[in-house]
Formats: sequence, structure tokens, C-alpha cells
Amino acid sequence: MPRVASTAWLGFLLGACVIASLAGQSTACTVFKFDISGFAANVRHLLLAYGVLSENGTIFLDNRNFPYKCTELGGWHDFFDSEPIIKEWTPKAEAAALDAPCRHVDKAGIAKIVDRIRIPWTQYEELAISKAWVLRPWVAVEVSQHLAVLEAAAKPTIALHIRGGDKVAEDQQEEIKRATTFPEDYVETFVSRFPDVQGGTCIILGDDHAWVAEASRLAQERINCTLQPLSPFYRQEGHKQAQFNSLPYEERCEQSMRLLTDMEIMAHADYFVGTFNSGMPWMIDTMRHVLYGKHRSTMADASIHHWDWYERIREYYREYAEEQVACG
Ligand SMILES: *[C@@H]1O[C@H](CO)[C@@H](O)[C@H](O)[C@H]1NC(C)=O
Ligand SMILES: *[C@@H]1O[C@H](CO)[C@@H](O)[C@H](O)[C@H]1NC(C)=O
Repeated sequence: MPRVASTAWLGFLLGACVIASLAGQSTACTVFKFDISGFAANVRHLLLAYGVLSENGTIFLDNRNFPYKCTELGGWHDFFDSEPIIKEWTPKAEAAALDAPCRHVDKAGIAKIVDRIRIPWTQYEELAISKAWVLRPWVAVEVSQHLAVLEAAAKPTIALHIRGGDKVAEDQQEEIKRATTFPEDYVETFVSRFPDVQGGTCIILGDDHAWVAEASRLAQERINCTLQPLSPFYRQEGHKQAQFNSLPYEERCEQSMRLLTDMEIMAHADYFVGTFNSGMPWMIDTMRHVLYGKHRSTMADASIHHWDWYERIREYYREYAEEQVACG
């Protein structure tokens, strides 16, 4: 008899705990949904999602619309092994989650949460990148072959990410309306930031042949660098997301690998210039200092805003020097 009573008492306690935890700090799984936009746009939001949700239960990633994949059911996990923290979503996996039912969020949903919390995006990205950016062995092998070429090149190595393609049309959209970053902007930004750096090897990566050719010519002339002849240069024209998304999986797989290789090269180069009008250089900037210990002063934003972190510090030094002169 006392035995039954104590079991009932225990049952009551457990019930109370469940109710209390539902009211208080309960957790639930979340399914974060990638969409058909570009690689950096999707992945930056995944990093935000990890930052916001990693204490709130299991994180699943729904890859169905993610354009970067090797097979229909593939996606992020084709290239990355982040399973311990970001699980591959399937209806079955969701149903089996101990903390189901899951909440479903997309990029806009995550951005809204982050806006409300008011911690800058870059801080989430810095937190998450080292956990999420774990290349699968087959990817790592291919990437390291390309990095070996970079290691053998004359120093310093200077990577420029020239973004043409659909970015130019995006710049002109009514609700965006911003100055396009042209090939000369990348080269001139480099020359003005690093006036003492001459020679070495320039790796000009980009999606638009004419722009890459123009930037290459200018870089040779102004930086006197040797062009890296093995620059991956695989597209026939500028990157257009819609076009990429309609390629067969095999081609998307190969191009995704090229993209990852390019990203690793840019992240490992001694200097890097890109435009913050594009999400990619934001990611590269984070990879450089978080994953590979590069000083933040070695990255420059070629957009007219020059939003890179260290430029503001240089600005201070310039103003300080002027004040010193003015004050005798
Ligand atoms: C965290 O989990 C709770 C369920 O316990 C859920 O109501 C809430 O929406 C989750 N938070 C986020 C940011 O997803
Ligand atoms: C350019 O680099 C070459 C070596 O690659 C060097 O011989 C030459 O003096 C440099 N030119 C200038 C103008 O610095």
C-alpha cells in the first residue's frame, strides 16, 4: 500500500515538473530552412540560427531548396560534417526528435529574432563558424591540394574577390540602389590600404571573365604582382543564381566544390579584398580571423563605404596624425 502511494506521489511530482518546465525554460527543436538564394546568404543565416537556437534544443537543417548539393537529397551535409550540432532534417528525423514538435523558421524569421536581440550579426558568425565549418574528408583533401599551390606561391599572396554577375543588377534595384564595386575599386582599395605592398602573387577570383581580366591587368600594373595562373576560373559568365539553381546536380556539385575551394583560398591568403555589397566577403572575413588567425587589418572592403573593421582604426590614426601636425 505505501508503495502505491509513493508512486502516485512521484507521478504527481513529475507532472508538476513537466508543467513547470513548459511554462518556464523548456526547449524545443527547430527546423531551419535554407532557401534558393546564394551560398553566403544561406550560410550566414545558418550561423545566426546556431547562435540563437543552440541552447533551445535540437537544430535541424532543411536542405530541400538549398541549391548547393550533389544529389537531390543532398545539401550542406554533402560538404560539411556538422552533424553533432546541426542535424540533417527529414520528416522522419523531426518526428523522432525527443524535443518535437519543432518550430520551423526561415532566413527572414531568424533575421527578425536577431534584430530583436540586437547583438551584431558578426558576433553570431564568429561564435558559430568554427563549429559549423567542418569540411568532410573528401572536401578537405581537394581543398588542401589547392591550398598547397597557394603555399608555394611567391609571398605575399593577395586575393581579390571580384563580384559581377547578378550583383550589378541587384545594385540597381529600386529598394537597394547602391554604388557598384568595379574592378578598379578592388585594386585601388588594395593600393591605398597597403601602399608598401608590391610584388607577390595575386589571386583574382571572380565570376565575370571581363571583370576578372580587367582586375588582373590593373593588379599587375599597380601592385606588380604575379598572377596565379591556376586561379579557378570556371564559369562562362557572371554568377546568376537562378541559372546556377537550374543546373544538373552533378554540375552544381562540382561548382560548389570550386566555390568552397575559392573561399578557402581567400581565407588563407595573406591579404584579401572583396566588397561588402556581397555576403561572401563577410564570411571570408570571419573565416580569416576566427579559423585561420589572420589579423583583421589584412582584409579590406572595396565598396564605397569601406566598412571593414580595421579601416575605422586607420581612420583614427590618420586623424590623430593630422591633429599632431596641426598642433605643431
Ligand atoms: C525555444 O523553445 C520553446 C519551446 O519550449 C519555443 O516555444 C520557442 O519558440 C523556442 N525559441 C526559439 C527562438 O525558437
Ligand atoms: C616588379 O617586380 C619585379 C620582380 O617580379 C621587379 O624586378 C621590378 O623591379 C618590379 N617593378 C617595380 C616598378 O617595382
